[in-house]
Amino acid sequence: MTSTSAETDQIPWEQLTAAATEAMCRAYVPYSKFPVGAAALTDDGRVVSGCNVENASYGLTLCAECSLVSQLQMTGGGKLVAFSCVDGDGNTLMPCGRCRQLLYEFRAPGMRLLTVSGIKTIDEVLPDAFGPEHLS
Ligand code: THU
Repeated sequence: MTSTSAETDQIPWEQLTAAATEAMCRAYVPYSKFPVGAAALTDDGRVVSGCNVENASYGLTLCAECSLVSQLQMTGGGKLVAFSCVDGDGNTLMPCGRCRQLLYEFRAPGMRLLTVSGIKTIDEVLPDAFGPEHLS
């Protein structure tokens, strides 16, 4: 079920998307020429962001979300409350499957994502997910 506006009113989506767009401008994409930026609000009120960083060995490319979760951990840890991702035109972009898994690891309960089909929860974009709870 897609979340209601009441549940998402408090999330600064415009600020997050602006931070994602700023991060996108730092992307290193000589191969795909497809810059991506991502930003997220943490459960203690920080905004963390990331851009994609490609490699001559194409398969080693780091998605913007990799950079974002690294920044999350390096700047104090915590969990992700809300997430926005943009392409080179600043349009909303869906995180790839691998990156949905990366985000799932660090989700706050009810984490929300701005998607091409509205605001969704992490459980909606990665249903029946495998996660840290399965390893305990
Ligand atoms: N990319 C991301 O950074 N995040 C995603 O969720 C989708 C794809 C990047 C990887 C690569 O540098 C470029 O987009 C084209 O696939």
